Amino acid sequence: MPERVIPLVDIRSSGRPLAVPEQLRAPTGVLTDRRRRPLRDLRISVTDRCNFRCSYCMPKEVFGPDHPYLPHASLLSFEEITRLARLFLAHGVRKIRLTGGEPLLRKNIEVLVAQLARLRTVDGLPPDITLTTNGSLLVRKARQLREAGLQRVTVSLDGLDDTVFRRMNDVDFPVADVLAGIAAAQAAGLGPIKVNMVVKRGTNEQEILPMARHFRGSGVVLRFIEYMDVGVTNGWRMDEVLPSAEVVRLLQSAWPMVPLEASAAGETAQRWGYAGADGRFDPRLGEIGVISSVTQAFCSDCNRARLSTEGKLFLCLFASEGHDLRALLRSGASDAELSGALAKVWGEREDRYSELRGSLQGRSTARVEMSYIGG
Ligand code: GTP
Ligand code: 5AD
Ligand code: SF4
Ligand code: SF4
Repeated sequence: MPERVIPLVDIRSSGRPLAVPEQLRAPTGVLTDRRRRPLRDLRISVTDRCNFRCSYCMPKEVFGPDHPYLPHASLLSFEEITRLARLFLAHGVRKIRLTGGEPLLRKNIEVLVAQLARLRTVDGLPPDITLTTNGSLLVRKARQLREAGLQRVTVSLDGLDDTVFRRMNDVDFPVADVLAGIAAAQAAGLGPIKVNMVVKRGTNEQEILPMARHFRGSGVVLRFIEYMDVGVTNGWRMDEVLPSAEVVRLLQSAWPMVPLEASAAGETAQRWGYAGADGRFDPRLGEIGVISSVTQAFCSDCNRARLSTEGKLFLCLFASEGHDLRALLRSGASDAELSGALAKVWGEREDRYSELRGSLQGRSTARVEMSYIGG
């Protein structure tokens, strides 16, 4: 299906040049965009490859055996990533998330984790370093990642039923191996672990209660994500979105639950806690989260920047173009120049796709794939 592949390749190879401002100012530790949103969270995609083929992310018909992945020389090196991360931290970033594709497929990823763990935020603290993974390689890697300085992981898991899960990852990967990965991460101290479940109406909604039952009281925070229209390849349809409100209603029919305060500004998830016999939140039973990008946009305090596998800076998950940091980096720019360019581009940011989704209907075509810039 060549016409479905073309936009993806186009987006990957294009990129806006980044301008270096004439006046270079030292970073102040706070950078706000046009909508007064501070930069806090940096998501770095370390590979565009994945060993799964989830239909909502890398459908097999598009990402087939001949799919042209990025050549190694296009990828940012660990040194380049670490240099950029240091500059982002000076602008106020506190949290760094490594994503992919599947980040554990990047060779020696623990070496990058160790380099990032040595950096400091503007408060002089180590950044919160976390990683989003499909869990398939965690049994092998959890301990060394922890030793390198990774603090926690988020594991994607879309169901407990083996048949449903194998169908959703579309590579026949067994659910037991992901559960073993989660256990290995817990044993290695990579907690609190979060599990992300993308809910698709008609595909895995019957897994909501079994998943909740399984993780209730386990110390793992389960989060239900509304199926989103990211990228252009997944054939997204609104009728396959199960609104979070329905998820919460379903959970409340099984257990008493109470809403919890957001734990940080700009958080993606709304939190709900399981209540004990007294009707109050019981931390031993734990909490769940719902991420409602479609029915309840959370752009108004979005503090996330995304660095793609080949060094383009995306200001929104739904952006059609990235800003080419790698070109500037490889042209020999100084730290001050790179830092100034970052400040300028974040300062001009206006993105809020999810808030505008309704009014854009049909007019936003060239969106980047999630496997390229990460979740
Ligand atoms: P924690 O610090 O672990 O709470 O991380 P997080 O919730 O910021 O990040 P995570 O990567 O776990 O995000 C969960 C899911 O929310 C992702 O897989 C996406 O589906 C979605 N998501 C994350 N960030 C954004 C965003 O900026 N916009 C939209 N629309 N969805 C997002
Ligand atoms: N909608 C919602 N979440 C998605 N993810 C990937 N594609 C989508 C989509 N279309 C999430 C997966 C995983 C993370 C990498 O991104 O759940 O947790
Ligand atoms: Fe791979 Fe995660 Fe995308 Fe599934 S959602 S194809 S596991 S990157
Ligand atoms: Fe942020 Fe864009 Fe997601 Fe809105 S749609 S929360 S601006 S990444």
